[in-house]
Amino acid sequence: MSALIVPSAPPAPSFEHALHELAALLRAAGYRFHTVTPATHRRVLARGVHLARDLADAFGWNLPFATALLGEARCAALAAAAIIVRHGDGWKALLRAASLGERIIFHSAYPTEQHDAVFFGPDSYRFVGAIARTLPTLAAPPRRVVEIGCGAGPAAIVIGTALQDAEVIAADINPRALAFTAANASLAGLKNVRTLHSDLLSAVTDDAGRPIDLVLANPPYMLDAGARAYRHGGGGHGEGLALAIVRSALARLAPGGTLMLYTGAPFVRQRDQFLEGAAPLLDGAGCRWHYEELDPDVFGEELEQPGYADVERIAAVWLVAQVPPA
Ligand SMILES: C[S@@+](CC[C@H](N)C(=O)[O-])C[C@H]1O[C@@H](n2cnc3c(N)ncnc32)[C@H](O)[C@@H]1O
Repeated sequence: MSALIVPSAPPAPSFEHALHELAALLRAAGYRFHTVTPATHRRVLARGVHLARDLADAFGWNLPFATALLGEARCAALAAAAIIVRHGDGWKALLRAASLGERIIFHSAYPTEQHDAVFFGPDSYRFVGAIARTLPTLAAPPRRVVEIGCGAGPAAIVIGTALQDAEVIAADINPRALAFTAANASLAGLKNVRTLHSDLLSAVTDDAGRPIDLVLANPPYMLDAGARAYRHGGGGHGEGLALAIVRSALARLAPGGTLMLYTGAPFVRQRDQFLEGAAPLLDGAGCRWHYEELDPDVFGEELEQPGYADVERIAAVWLVAQVPPA
């Protein structure tokens, strides 16, 4: 078997077109796959299946597959677009396809070890679920929305679909994330989602008469030894970027605008390290806000990693904050 070489160069020009073709094929075959955590993915692969038996094995579990699974012509076209690569006598996918309801969201292959890997996983499912539950509670539909750290774009796509009259700016510092979001939004048939290379809100201009009504984010919240952009949150225990997003959103939201933030909150001796930083910022800005734990214990295996010696748990939390109206 030849080694798998994962390119981290920008996607080939035919990338989006080839993804449309692949998505059509997956849909026609009734493809379903829910992306799991890296730890679960590793455990499932350790069971020892070495060759894909179906499309979910090839594009969900990222197992090598034989040419017969897709046929010679399709394999050649996908290889030309850097979506699959030669692997021994067969092929291996350089990306994964996840089900999000009836949609397909393409994102990086397992294992996501490259510095520019594009994240999609259980946090994405919790994040879009919380958005869908919260959107109907807003007093007025937002007209200008910015997602900070769009990754593969699931939240921008859910918002863009729900708010067809809104402009949705999907921002990220990772060009590969922007390429995946653009392709996934195009697959969803959306014209109101546009991608923007931006560190937090720095590249989002203050258009006259078009202030930001809604900021969304599911930022990295781990202490990642490799400092990968999709994973590393910085700060004492990974909460640094989430707090920077709170500050950035409060500084830029229109009067009455809303921040929806999903993150992982590290607890040290029963004290929520994210909340202790965020509450004074929210109260200081006069916000009305709601905070809840969606799951008391996520990514427990991380507590064995350096930097977590005093962390008891990481909770998945959901913050909705409204800045005061004018
Ligand atoms: C955990 S992923 C979440 C992706 C997506 N929102 C989702 O829920 O699936 C976090 C994303 O934030 C991006 N990111 C990290 N730091 C950022 C920053 N300073 N400004 C904008 N995006 C950032 C990463 O590149 C990554 O795509």
